[in-house]
Amino acid sequence: MSADRRPRVLSGAQPTADSYHLGNYFGAFKQWVGLQDEFEAFYFIPDLHAITVEYEPARLRERTYIAAAQLLAAGVDPERSALFVQSHVPEHAQLAWVLGGITGFGEASRMTQFKDKSARTGSDSSSVGLFTYPVLMAADILIYQADRVPVGEDQRQHVELTRNLAQRFNHRFGDTFTVPQAHIVKATAKIYDLQDPTSKMSGSNQSHAGVVDLTDTPKQVAKKLRSAVTDSGAEIRFDPSTKPGVSNLLSIYSALTDEPIESVVRDFEGKQYGHLKVALGDLLADFVGQFGDRTRELLADRAELDRILAGGADRAREVAGATLDLVYERSGFVRGR
Ligand code: TRP
Repeated sequence: MSADRRPRVLSGAQPTADSYHLGNYFGAFKQWVGLQDEFEAFYFIPDLHAITVEYEPARLRERTYIAAAQLLAAGVDPERSALFVQSHVPEHAQLAWVLGGITGFGEASRMTQFKDKSARTGSDSSSVGLFTYPVLMAADILIYQADRVPVGEDQRQHVELTRNLAQRFNHRFGDTFTVPQAHIVKATAKIYDLQDPTSKMSGSNQSHAGVVDLTDTPKQVAKKLRSAVTDSGAEIRFDPSTKPGVSNLLSIYSALTDEPIESVVRDFEGKQYGHLKVALGDLLADFVGQFGDRTRELLADRAELDRILAGGADRAREVAGATLDLVYERSGFVRGR
């Protein structure tokens, strides 16, 4: 809306596992960190979204702290970005209610992630919260007038819904929201499961043997790497369609070293798969070792984490409160005190 500010970027990653994994790091957090200078950044932990499926309160609390520590360890800088917990900023839920009033039931029913998730548990055991999850996500984005939203391909439809809701509200009630753009992560930053390199690395994958958690020990990582599936043939080549296993290892290597894939391939010319696995295993073991050290240090001081998250929420609420005031005004609510 206003031209005199830096464009805003916003994203969140659910605290639904005991740790984020390598796919989250390279597919999301590394981008988030890189956007902190060019953009005014808002990064948050969507705990309100995490309660739309069955969960344990004590674990959610612990996972939220772990998530915060890992985002900081990944390089989210609380001096430059607002890093906060979603439930600390009540305006998200308040705006979600308003947006619910202009969201069509059929429109929400078409969200493929809801259809997939509810098909897995059966629609009787799916919650209304899971159904309205995309509306809350729209509120997360619109409450900050975000310009850019870095997300994976699986969230593209939710950002599309967000754009539609922003345009609809603007059209009916007057210009209020910035219409955001999705910032889909580059294919080369995508990390696949080490055991099933045709499906993306995901905390919800059945087996954890192919998922490198950021809390793994160097030993665990070395083991996961040794048992990573490779492909038939012997040549080290980047070709995700015929060599998904080796291509995934090359992508991870390239992501870790910031070396272009072609140059990694050249380094391993004439070598065997085993060489690539060992070399990558060593690099990754170092990486998780250092990452784990930093995370544990941050987690050891909860008061400091609370302070950082409170600071992030304060900054977030300044922006979110102003948007909500405008939305309430445009919606025709009588001004309260
Ligand atoms: N739904 C996102 C995911 O599962 C997480 C999320 C919630 C989010 N709110 C958001 C991402 C707002 C970007 C913007 O990955």
